[in-house]
Amino acid sequence: MLNEEQKERLQHIMSRMTLAQKIGQMTMAERMWATPDDVREHGLGSILSGGGSAPGENTAADWVEMNDAYWQACMEAEGGVGVPILFAVDAVHGHNNLKGATIFPHNLGLGAADDPELVAKIAELTALEILATGLDWNFAPTLAVVKDVRWGRTYESFGSDPKRAAIYGEAYVKACQAQGVLACVKHWVGDGETHHGIDQGDTRLDYETLESTHMTPYYPALKAGVHSVMVSFNSWNGDKCHGHRFLISEVLKEKLGFSGIVVSDWNGIDYLSEDYNVAIRESVNAGLDLFMVPENWRLFLSGLMEQVEQGHVSESRIDDAVSRILAVKIKMGLLDKPKPSSRLGTDSIEPGCAAHRNVAREAVRKSLVLLKNEQRVLPIQESQRILVAGKNANNLGHQCGGWTVSWQGEPDGRNIEGTSLWQAVSSRVSQAELSADLGGSDADPAKHDVAIVAIGETPYAEGLGDIRIDDEGLIQTGSMIRGLMKPLEPYGHSLALSDLHPEDLACIKCIRKAGVPVIAVLMSGRPLVIEQELDESQAFVVAWLPGSEGDGVADLLFGDFPFTAKLPLPWPSGEGINSHRSVFEAGFGSDLTVSTVDSAVEKKYKLS
Ligand code: BGC
Ligand code: BGC
Repeated sequence: MLNEEQKERLQHIMSRMTLAQKIGQMTMAERMWATPDDVREHGLGSILSGGGSAPGENTAADWVEMNDAYWQACMEAEGGVGVPILFAVDAVHGHNNLKGATIFPHNLGLGAADDPELVAKIAELTALEILATGLDWNFAPTLAVVKDVRWGRTYESFGSDPKRAAIYGEAYVKACQAQGVLACVKHWVGDGETHHGIDQGDTRLDYETLESTHMTPYYPALKAGVHSVMVSFNSWNGDKCHGHRFLISEVLKEKLGFSGIVVSDWNGIDYLSEDYNVAIRESVNAGLDLFMVPENWRLFLSGLMEQVEQGHVSESRIDDAVSRILAVKIKMGLLDKPKPSSRLGTDSIEPGCAAHRNVAREAVRKSLVLLKNEQRVLPIQESQRILVAGKNANNLGHQCGGWTVSWQGEPDGRNIEGTSLWQAVSSRVSQAELSADLGGSDADPAKHDVAIVAIGETPYAEGLGDIRIDDEGLIQTGSMIRGLMKPLEPYGHSLALSDLHPEDLACIKCIRKAGVPVIAVLMSGRPLVIEQELDESQAFVVAWLPGSEGDGVADLLFGDFPFTAKLPLPWPSGEGINSHRSVFEAGFGSDLTVSTVDSAVEKKYKLS
């Protein structure tokens, strides 16, 4: 991985480091719990900004200023060797912690688009927006292969096909790292197929299936030189991945030859033992190199020191971990970069600029799936009188989902900059009307030719998005997320949209009853059981979580572009948790042929 000169440099640094400094390099704290003074004093190797964690007023300039302070602290670190920190962030659909960033569709929609070049472009633009804030590392892409849509992280996955995740993973990693931003493939391994879809749960599979389904997506990214892999919260057949020497050291590092950084997930080592020192020992010895210990970093520093002194962790294991971390820092040129505010990009790239938003809009267009189009209600003509309704019609928070400005997303969307679906429609068609109560009670065939009804989920992230039911449809009670200190409230206990959000069906029915045809637009982090909503609508569009650019949805509704996306995973039916609507998978091409607005040319709205 390193050339001779770089290897010498690494050796030189290592030879000057004390054990305490080495342990500092292996430690990643969260910015809220570790100040630049802490970094200076303890020589921390890395800082992260967790979901929704942002400095000052959350402008790009605030981020750069913060990172300058951390950088300066590294240069002045006690007895220091002048190694800058790696600053990491979850930019999982654009640089989503940053206010004003371009918010791309969540990964599931990109899976539907089936377009690796588009994914590469998004990775590149996301990296550029990261550079604009002076950061180094993106905790993306997620290569989870989702096999159970009860999982609250379904939308972070590219879908159920390991091959697509593999192709996308490679495209993403190459494009991100080409900009000088570290990528991180996550979560190793088996996160998408836990029992009952429970986040951080147990993946019960034989090795062959784990390998063919859940490891396959990583191979091309590893080959492409991805610099980091994040270990998963889940267990494999009862054993936590964070302490799994076989999965981390034997498979990932030895068999697959991964020479970069293996990073733990947020407090992920805590699950290994009630005794923190035992947890430290087991995870270091399993092969983890860098430890995401957001608030517990002091305990980690002293605990690991003790474990080495008592002989439970060897110095050679420490040296291996530290040399991996330093090798990545050297390889990416971090040691020779000036302070963040003087780096390339911090003043030349404008997050959320029109050019970036245009790519996001294109991504939206390419990700929408048309499930139904009766009587050619689509495309809508601009001369039509349109009613726009539904709780997701004018809410950027709902449109963007979790991991947008805050960890769990923004329920009212006020802090997100973009264009809601209503804003997109009304900027095209001046006579469009937004339903006063969003519920459609004002639908009137004398005033409206057609209604667009945006329905679906409200924002969530991780385990708080789980749907807790077992295979028989029985309610399962919540478990704990470590660190949250309160029992986990899942998103719901049913996969049926009519149970989760009865107001959506009520809205569709109300408009239909008034005699106005309904075009339903589902904004949702996963497929849901939608038999009734589908029956009551003339057209049905799956928009996934499209992000900040509602214009991309309008582009398709008005027929400027054809629907080309395909379902990236099987769609559940109402007949039991594991039954799927085969008709959706087969696609029903013919009745979805519609003519465009302004020409006689037939556009094929193809599904399969
Ligand atoms: C998530 C990771 C994420 C990390 C840092 C964890 O809870 O599982 O995907 O990278 O937090 O925010
Ligand atoms: C998330 C973080 C988030 C934190 C809040 C973690 O699990 O990954 O990004 O800020 O929880 O407690």
